[in-house]
Amino acid sequence: KQAKMIVDKDFIISNIDNRIYGSFIEHLGRAVYEGIYEPGHPLADEQGFRQDVIELVKELNVPLVRYPGGNFVSGYNWEDGVGPKEDRPRRLELAWKTIETNEVGTNEFADWAKKVNSEVNMAVNLGTRGIDAARNLVEYCNHPSGSYWSDLRIKHGYKEPHKFKTWCLGNEMDGPWQIGHKTAEEYGRIACEAAKVMKWVDPTIELVACGSSSRAMKTFADWEATVLDHTYDHVEYISLHTYYGNRDNDTANFVARSLDMDAFIRSVAAICDYVKAKKRSKKTIHLSFDEWNVWYHSHDADSQRDPWQIAPPQLEDVYTFEDAILVGCMLITLLKHSDRVKIACMAQLVNVIAPIMTEKGGGAWKQTIFYPYMHASVYGRGAALNPIVSSPLYDSKDFTDVPYLESTAVYNEEKDELTIFAVNRDLHESLLLECDIRNFQEYRVIEHIVLENDDAKARNTAAARGQVQPHNRGDAGGKDGFVVASLPKFSWNVIRLA
Ligand code: AHR
Repeated sequence: KQAKMIVDKDFIISNIDNRIYGSFIEHLGRAVYEGIYEPGHPLADEQGFRQDVIELVKELNVPLVRYPGGNFVSGYNWEDGVGPKEDRPRRLELAWKTIETNEVGTNEFADWAKKVNSEVNMAVNLGTRGIDAARNLVEYCNHPSGSYWSDLRIKHGYKEPHKFKTWCLGNEMDGPWQIGHKTAEEYGRIACEAAKVMKWVDPTIELVACGSSSRAMKTFADWEATVLDHTYDHVEYISLHTYYGNRDNDTANFVARSLDMDAFIRSVAAICDYVKAKKRSKKTIHLSFDEWNVWYHSHDADSQRDPWQIAPPQLEDVYTFEDAILVGCMLITLLKHSDRVKIACMAQLVNVIAPIMTEKGGGAWKQTIFYPYMHASVYGRGAALNPIVSSPLYDSKDFTDVPYLESTAVYNEEKDELTIFAVNRDLHESLLLECDIRNFQEYRVIEHIVLENDDAKARNTAAARGQVQPHNRGDAGGKDGFVVASLPKFSWNVIRLA
């Protein structure tokens, strides 16, 4: 099979907002405790943060980390997590039925984020709390000094304000499972009022309103329209969440699921623009895809767990090679919509549906999905180009006209580099890719990285860490404005030119 791509420097979708490569740490399972934080571990630093995990997060070059939830945030009293550790309460955590010790809270997380060179995407509780706790938290985190909450932060040892820029107004408030679940009207009102006072405390912050927790929700679309009707003038973004699985073991259908993500993004952008038109507004609402990933491997194990443990293993999906292929397609989809999607968070980062896993007292290792995420984050900075792509197509159970080739290109003018990201979805045959890179005449291939495996179910585990890892022996080559590459069957490819 053969596919074609025309890449032109002047066909730009958008400059990519680096926050599109964000991630997420929730107080859930072993993400915080035994994940990023394990005092007593041989590699723990003076604050108890694991340095091996810090190094892996740095390898991923994560610009933004959402915190502290997720479902967790809807029952969280942020005051429990600040001040002397010995005074912090242990609480029944109702979202995930565990005991929360509060050893790590806002200030420690801000320290950790600095260590990994990330910004914090902070979330406020609009489930059990409301506008008062939200404005106090902004004051505690972002106000320099001279007020009750900012002076309390200083008393807690943090003289400088954290200056968190991006804030989520609650989490998945449309979901009946959410602590403090609301109708769109109820949420729209509280989100609007919280947004107003949060910005009165710090006018420089940007706010994300909750969209639907998935495209499959019955209230999807009406929810977004109603919430934006209330909040349009007070927020910058609306959120999208999606997780995919392959329970029926139909791989060709599974790796086509990024087409669903694509349709989801288009729909939410259309709803934002509908509200814009209705309000005759000049402002455009952007999208924050602040939870996305594969999630299904751990569902059965999680349904059998006893409640009220401290940091039990939860949502510990061990990812397969085919999961990495879908993750690659999802990253390409986000890039294709980088004019509208300004923030995206792979959910999550450590141990919980995560690219990085840890063993208590032991090592840290990379899941299969680590690799496409790292490649996109490291090489996908600059301008997202809009290539003209033609590819042979296939039909699957839920999708028609699925292109075998999923691809896009990113131009990094500063570094003088062009990167082509390409997935061959064909399970059986390689795909010959011919690229016309016209006004990149002088560019030569410097590397063709490939992630491939004969076994779609191959996994990296604590015992076998290198089952799935990329190599750079891809055959891409060419000159005078043309590049030809053979994309191995069922593979993720990064073709780097300079
Ligand atoms: O990321 C895991 C959970 O998925 C989050 O807590 C919640 O927001 C979503 O349902």
